[in-house]
Amino acid sequence: MDTDFYRIKRLPPYVIAEVNAMRAAARAEGRDIIDLGMGNPDQPPPQHVIDKLCEVAAKPDAHGYSQSKGIPGLRKAQANYYARRFGVDLDPEREVVVTLGSKEGLASLASAITAPGDTILAPNPSYPIHTFGFIIAGASIRSVPTTPDENYWRALDNAVAFTVPRPTVLVVNFPSNPTAETVDLAFYERLVDWARFHKIWVLSDLAYSELYYDGKPTPSILQVPGAKEVAIEFTSLSKTYGMAGWRIGFAVGNTTLIAALTRVKSYIDYGAFTPIQAAACAALNGPQDCVEQTRQMYHRRRDVMIDAFGRAGWDIPAPPASMFAWAPLPPALKEMGSMEFAKQLLTHAQVAVAPGVGYGEDGEGYVRIGLVENEQRLRQAARNVKRYLQSMGVNASAA
Ligand SMILES: Cc1ncc(COP(=O)(O)O)c(C=O)c1O
Repeated sequence: MDTDFYRIKRLPPYVIAEVNAMRAAARAEGRDIIDLGMGNPDQPPPQHVIDKLCEVAAKPDAHGYSQSKGIPGLRKAQANYYARRFGVDLDPEREVVVTLGSKEGLASLASAITAPGDTILAPNPSYPIHTFGFIIAGASIRSVPTTPDENYWRALDNAVAFTVPRPTVLVVNFPSNPTAETVDLAFYERLVDWARFHKIWVLSDLAYSELYYDGKPTPSILQVPGAKEVAIEFTSLSKTYGMAGWRIGFAVGNTTLIAALTRVKSYIDYGAFTPIQAAACAALNGPQDCVEQTRQMYHRRRDVMIDAFGRAGWDIPAPPASMFAWAPLPPALKEMGSMEFAKQLLTHAQVAVAPGVGYGEDGEGYVRIGLVENEQRLRQAARNVKRYLQSMGVNASAA
């Protein structure tokens, strides 16, 4: 029997799994690990959303197959969100599809629009589905930088000039996971011009649309006039409303891409459980003070973490958005590499972080720190890290 499966062969070992296994083993030994390694929100959704889920689940007719592309009310709720938040008009019938989380949406779209051998431009470092969705579909990835500076534009132009076959798709993700970098509308204006000129689809992952700090709301690519000719954008309720396990996200934008995604999904799934979709409507249509509270919670955690880790001897730039800090290894320990450093933090400081190399080779030299524990635990993590750094000869002034 052939066990050499084409798609499985294309998947390398999951680098972060090594640290995850160590964390699980440490916990099994009863050690109290402060887990800043995952991107899993630690707060529940607002009560009215949970109430709606329960209310609809109690109805006898709510348990059949739902609609793969999402119930009409939810697609309308998403269109209303884009209208009020970004001033973008969307047709809920042709320009919106509900996905089982944005991750599923990205993977399904990749399988819908990719032929084996296609070249896809994806950021490095990046959230894994940005590359592996396409690798599973048989494409090759050409990496472009994550940082949106002039080097980024040079890399895009070089990719078009020198890649055969010509790239068909560019993935962008701002606020970025893992680097937390953001862009302004001028970036998207230039990007839409570039993509229209080169006839390249743009897939924008806006999973952290509402986690921005310092009063700078993150823009949508669809705010650019003409963006719908080339772009589709993914958003998610996972982080905005603490609904990560519920698996609800959206794709909106270009009608051709939405149709392709909807078509593939119609063969694969029956849509999210109807009560979940009804509760997602309640989240989007209901009071939005919970979104502001969540933003403020991450904002406070960010400030506590940056301050406490700085005092511990580790200077980390404050992320302007997302729920992560992208932390350069302390210079004195840089040679160790991000994987070994993450292992050492776990073993000697009881703090789990994600090694940057797990997000692509250009993530080496960094670890990703999630703001997914409360302020007290973040301060405790900093105390543990301080002791570890001191044991390595790094003190607060020399880090
Ligand atoms: C950038 C980015 N996109 C997508 C996702 C997946 O989100 P969802 O829960 O909507 O599938 C994540 C989750 O961490 C993410 O960081």
